[in-house]
Amino acid sequence: MQIDFDFSGKHVVVFGGTTGINFGIAQAFARQGADVTVASRKQENVDAARAQLTSFGGRVFGVCADVRDFDAVGGAFEQAVAQHGPVDVLVSGAAGNFLCEAKDMSSNGFRVVIDIDLVGTFHVLRQAYAHLRRPGASVINITAPQSFIPMRYQAHAGAAKAGVDQLTRNLALEWGGDGIRINSISPGPIEGTEGFRRLMANDETERARALDAVPLKRFGTLDDIANLALFLGSPYAAYISGALIPCDGGGALESVKPPLEAAGRAATAKASKP
Ligand code: COA
Ligand code: NAP
Repeated sequence: MQIDFDFSGKHVVVFGGTTGINFGIAQAFARQGADVTVASRKQENVDAARAQLTSFGGRVFGVCADVRDFDAVGGAFEQAVAQHGPVDVLVSGAAGNFLCEAKDMSSNGFRVVIDIDLVGTFHVLRQAYAHLRRPGASVINITAPQSFIPMRYQAHAGAAKAGVDQLTRNLALEWGGDGIRINSISPGPIEGTEGFRRLMANDETERARALDAVPLKRFGTLDDIANLALFLGSPYAAYISGALIPCDGGGALESVKPPLEAAGRAATAKASKP
C-alpha cells in the first residue's frame, strides 16, 4: 500500500502553532497542500510563522489569541473559518513550562501552567467544536511524558498534561458520535525546541544521561512528531480515537526500568542462592 498524505483543500488549525514542535506540524501539513491557520499570543511569532508557511504555496492565515482567553479563542476560530472554511484537522499544543520544586512553587506559578496547558486545551477544543467538519474531523492534543511519568520539578506540568490526556479520552467518547476523532501525541525530548532547552540541563553529563534514557539512543526531531500528526490527521487513522501515542524513541519505557531492574536484581539474587 502506498501512503499518500494529500491534505489539499483541507483546513488545518494549529493552536500554539508558531514555534517549535507545533510549527513543525504546521509546516508538514502546509507541505502536503493544506490550508493552514496558526494561532498564538505574540504577533511577531504569528507573522514569522505565516511568512514561512506561505513559502509552501498554500493559503495561510495567522491570528493572535491567548488560549487562556475563551472569547479570544472563539474569535480566532470565527476568523479562521471565514478564511478557510470548516476545520478538518485541529492541533492543540500551546503550553508553558519551567522547572520548579513543588515546595518552592507559588500558587500563581502552578495555576499559570494549568491555565495554559489544561484550561487552554479545553478552550481550544470547546470553541472549535462548532466549526469541526463532521463526520471526519481529527483533533490532536500535544501532551507530554510527565502526564503519566512522575518527574521532579514538574508538578504543575504533570498535573496539567494528565488533565489534557483525560480530556482527550472524555471528548473522544462524547464527540465520537459526531464522527470526530481525538487523540494525543506525547513527544519525547525533541532537540532544538524551547521545551527541550527549558527542561534539559545545559551540561554534557545531563545531556548524555537524558540520551541514555532513550532506548533508540537519539533525541527526536520535529519531523518525527509531524509525521505522526500527518498520520493521525489522515483517513489512514480513521479507526483511532481516544489514544495517547508516545513518539519518544521508547523513552516512556525506559523511565520505568530503574525500579524494575532493582526489583529484578533482588529477585535474581534471592533465586540464585543455593
Ligand atoms: N520558577 C518558578 N516560578 C516561576 C518561573 C520559574 N522559572 N517562571 C514563572 N514563574 C511563576 C512566576 O513567578 C509567577 O508567579 P507569582 O505571580 O507568584 O510570582 C507565575 O509563574 C506566572 O509567571 P508570569 O511570568 O507572570 O506568567 P506568563 O503568563 O507571562 O508566562 C510562563 C507563562 C511562565 C509559562 C512563560 O514561561 C511562558 O509564556 N512560556 C511559554 C513558552 C514555554 O514555556 N515553552 C515550553 C513549552 S514545554
Ligand atoms: P514552544 O516552541 O515554546 O511552543 C509553544 C507554542 O505555544 C508557541 O507557539 C507559543 O507561541 C504558544 N503559546 C504559549 N503560550 C500560549 C498561550 N497562552 N496562548 C496561545 N499560545 C501560546 O515549545 P515546544 O517545546 O515546541 O513545545 C510544544 C508542545 O510540545 C507543548 O505542548 C509541549 O508541552 C510539548 N512537548 C514538548 C517537548 C519538547 O521536547 N520540546 C516534549 C514533550 C512535550 P507564543 O509565545 O507566540 O504564544
